[in-house]
Amino acid sequence: MLKVGLVGLGFMGRGHLDVYLRLEDEGFPIKLVAICDVDPDKFKNKFLPGNIDVGNKKYDFSRYKLYSDYNEMFEKEELDYVDIVLPTYLHAEATVKALDKGMHVLCEKPMALNLQECQAMIDAAERNNKKLMIGHCLRFWPEYEYLKSVVEKGTFGKVLGGYFFRGGTTPKWSYKGWLLRKEKSGGALLDQHVHDIDTINWLFGMPKAVSTVGRNVIVGSGYDIVSTHYLYEDGKVITAEDDWVLNGDFGFDMRFRVNFEKGNIVYERGILKVNPNDAKSFIPDLPTDNGYYREIKYFANAILNDTPIDIAPPQSSKETIKIALAEMESADNNGKYIAL
Ligand SMILES: NC(=O)c1ccc[n+]([C@@H]2O[C@H](COP(=O)([O-])OP(=O)(O)OC[C@H]3O[C@@H](n4cnc5c(N)ncnc54)[C@H](O)[C@@H]3O)[C@@H](O)[C@H]2O)c1
Repeated sequence: MLKVGLVGLGFMGRGHLDVYLRLEDEGFPIKLVAICDVDPDKFKNKFLPGNIDVGNKKYDFSRYKLYSDYNEMFEKEELDYVDIVLPTYLHAEATVKALDKGMHVLCEKPMALNLQECQAMIDAAERNNKKLMIGHCLRFWPEYEYLKSVVEKGTFGKVLGGYFFRGGTTPKWSYKGWLLRKEKSGGALLDQHVHDIDTINWLFGMPKAVSTVGRNVIVGSGYDIVSTHYLYEDGKVITAEDDWVLNGDFGFDMRFRVNFEKGNIVYERGILKVNPNDAKSFIPDLPTDNGYYREIKYFANAILNDTPIDIAPPQSSKETIKIALAEMESADNNGKYIAL
């Protein structure tokens, strides 16, 4: 039976809590024993809504040990792993502390704000011989997983080009507004667009160079709208865009369109459609569980069976941050190509 501690019970922390409740209901050998959050409102079930539905029920917190300080939680609890869903500026500090206390760590994306912090997290996992995974949920999202398998198997030949988008309403729910502070979150580029950066890194590897045009709209938040070109040796045309100032009733959207020599795959409005060049289009049968559930179950199974974290290894998450930082540098220089 794995004993887990959850740190951070904001918008995404509640999404993770829902997964633990479901896994326990399903009889999976896991038990969430402790939760930490610095904001006492969270344990009174007072939450602000986010831009996707990740769980908005009332929780029974009497079944958990509750903490307001994660140092105290790491000191007092004997946990197999800690699930860190803190604001990004705390990822490295909390991850290194938990690893040094001998616990495995699942930490939300983005890995950290800079490469030094990412390396400190990797070093801590290695010196303690513990597992570390960054919650790049799209690597576990059925539609993205399907795309990855088609790219890898070469089902429709080589990739000619691809477009990735995500965006939505401005995130106004965060603790003391950290998400809209560039120095704390890295803005839309590092917080939201990083999902597509990671997908591109996972599908195609490190690009030769990136060129990003970015625009700031909200004072102090960094780049709120970005558009990036990724240069690859074989000339495939890859672009990704993000915009978190799509307000009104926009909500949230993520989509992609990837063109291959012998067909294309389009994911929009939650439906993935495959269009072969010489056959009828079809909608593949995919798992219905979302990426958060599948990601957490994968990590728990990796600990239970002592198998490697090969779908989202931390070194690859660090490379994703390297690409994101190059994009920021490019945007700061009006789209100049930055070599990687
Ligand atoms: N994978 C995804 O799709 C996805 C989606 C949203 C957010 N995230 C990531 O999840 C993380 C959290 O984002 P969020 O939107 O939930 O933010 P949030 O502000 O809603 O939640 C953060 C929580 O951490 C708590 N907290 C802050 N400082 C603390 C401290 N020192 N000790 C203990 N608790 C503390 C806050 O009270 C809050 O409840 C971020 O890294 C974000 O990028 C991932």
